[in-house]
Parts: sequence; structure tokens; C-alpha cells
Amino acid sequence: MATAELIDGKSIARQIREQIRTRVQHRVAQNLRVPGLAVVLVGENHASQIYVRSKQKACQDVGFHSELIRFPGTITEKELLARIDELNHDEQIDGILVQLPLPQHINANTIVESIRCDKDVDGFHPYNLGRLAQRRPLLRPCTPYGIMLMLESIPHFEPHGLKAVVVGASNIVGRPMTLELLYAGCTVTSTHRFTKSLEEHISTAELLVVAIGKPGIIKSEWIKPGAIVVDVGMNRLEDGKLVGDVEFETAKERAAWITPVPGGVGPMTVTTLLQNTLFTTEELHNHDYQTAL
Ligand code: GUN
Repeated sequence: MATAELIDGKSIARQIREQIRTRVQHRVAQNLRVPGLAVVLVGENHASQIYVRSKQKACQDVGFHSELIRFPGTITEKELLARIDELNHDEQIDGILVQLPLPQHINANTIVESIRCDKDVDGFHPYNLGRLAQRRPLLRPCTPYGIMLMLESIPHFEPHGLKAVVVGASNIVGRPMTLELLYAGCTVTSTHRFTKSLEEHISTAELLVVAIGKPGIIKSEWIKPGAIVVDVGMNRLEDGKLVGDVEFETAKERAAWITPVPGGVGPMTVTTLLQNTLFTTEELHNHDYQTAL
């Protein structure tokens, strides 16, 4: 078995961001407003601060208007809802992203549902998830959507009838990933904490997507030779090294295609956020005005 080819998320993301930048430049040349993204960060969660920074930087890189709205962890749910309501009505803002997790005293479901569906660039609102479940996606959850774009970059990728196994069933990644693969025509198995014989399921997977968040939990000998392996895990080891959920070095000797960590799924997630935001501006919001007027 030859060593797997890498699915280079960094390079695919760069190409898509270049296209987005060009589209924004065209809008500017036509005196149309640029897409606007509001990122709401509550509290001091270290990982959230890093994610939010990278989202903001990505917006700057492609020429979007971006606003970072920070609140202390003591903000009440009511106050947060009031600010979201303002953003829902703000015509400069096409996309609203509330970084998760939120503090315990705030109901994250209430917050997500308060975001206008056509500004829900995370794709977490029940309306947008429902659209995906009904095979007519509108705003698609960023990480699974990014993974679909990576899979489409594989030459001759044919999802119809492909035996896909998703490991992890979170609202952010695993569940919508299952819906995306079903939409693409795969035969999908969704595995989770109650799954028995995980190893057996994995060993049948022609396409394996792992989103658990435990370093190296997926053993390479479980992987079907020739499989496509997508590793969503991003785990920081004590020595500072960033690793995925799959034993990468040995898994790449069995898989046909595999995503590296870092440089795999990570860069795609922010890119699809940009893509969703541009989509809302161009397709969902018809209040464009001439900036020169
Ligand atoms: N926390 C971890 N991942 C995400 C994400 O994709 N969006 C938001 N809003 N919060 C997150």
C-alpha cells in the first residue's frame, strides 16, 4: 500500500479565499458595500479568543467589514439577546457569529435561535439545520461544509453509495456532517458515545470522518486500507504539538487520502465562514446601496 495523499486544506482554503477577495474587490469597484461579519465573544475562554482572532484576521484578509463585540462572562442572557437584536437589524451586518461555548447561565440554544436565520453564518440555527436535513441547504455549518469542499477536491471523488462513518455526533460537527454526507448520497453511519464496537464500524468505512477531540484515539489498524480519512480533531499535547484524533503517521500508510493536523480541516472552517458571509450579502440581503451616494 502506497502512502496516502494529503488533502491540503491550507492550499484549498487559500484558493477559495482568493476568489472571495476578488469578489469583494468587484463589489468595491461597483460601489457596493462589502460583506459585514459581527463576531460576539462572551467571557475569557482562551481557545475561543484564539478562534475569534483567526476569524477576524480572515475577514481583514479578504476585505470584509468585521466587528468584534466582547462582553464579560457576567453579561445576562437578556443583555446578550438585546445586542443580537440590534445586530439582526443592522444593515451593515450580513453575518452574526456568537462564539461557543457560552457561560453556564446563558442558554446557548436560546441565543442561537435569536440570530436571524439569514444572518446565521455558522449554520447552527434550527432553520438552517432543518434545511440541510431536507436536502435544500441554505447556510451550511462551516466545518462539515468545509470538509465537503475538501472531499470534492479529490480527483474522481464519487460520494454516491460510498460507505461513510462519522465518529462523534456533536451539534457543531458530527451531526451536520452526517447530514452533509447523506445529502451527497453516501450511506452514512453516525457513531457516538453509546456506539458498541466502534472499531467494527470504522473498519468498514470507505470514508471516515472523526470529530471527537481526543489525541490519537482512532487506531490506524482499524482503518480500512484505501479509505479516505478526515480528521477534525485539534488536540494540543503537553509538549505544545498539535495533533488530531487519528494516529496520523501509521494511518497514512493505510489510507488513500488523509487530512493532516494542522493544515487540514482547520483552515477550511474559517474559509466556509467567509463563504457563508459573502453568500448572505450577495444572495440573501437585497439592501445593497451605493456607497458613493
Ligand atoms: N466553537 C467551536 N467551534 C465553533 C464554531 O464553529 N462556531 C461557533 N460559533 N463557536 C464555536
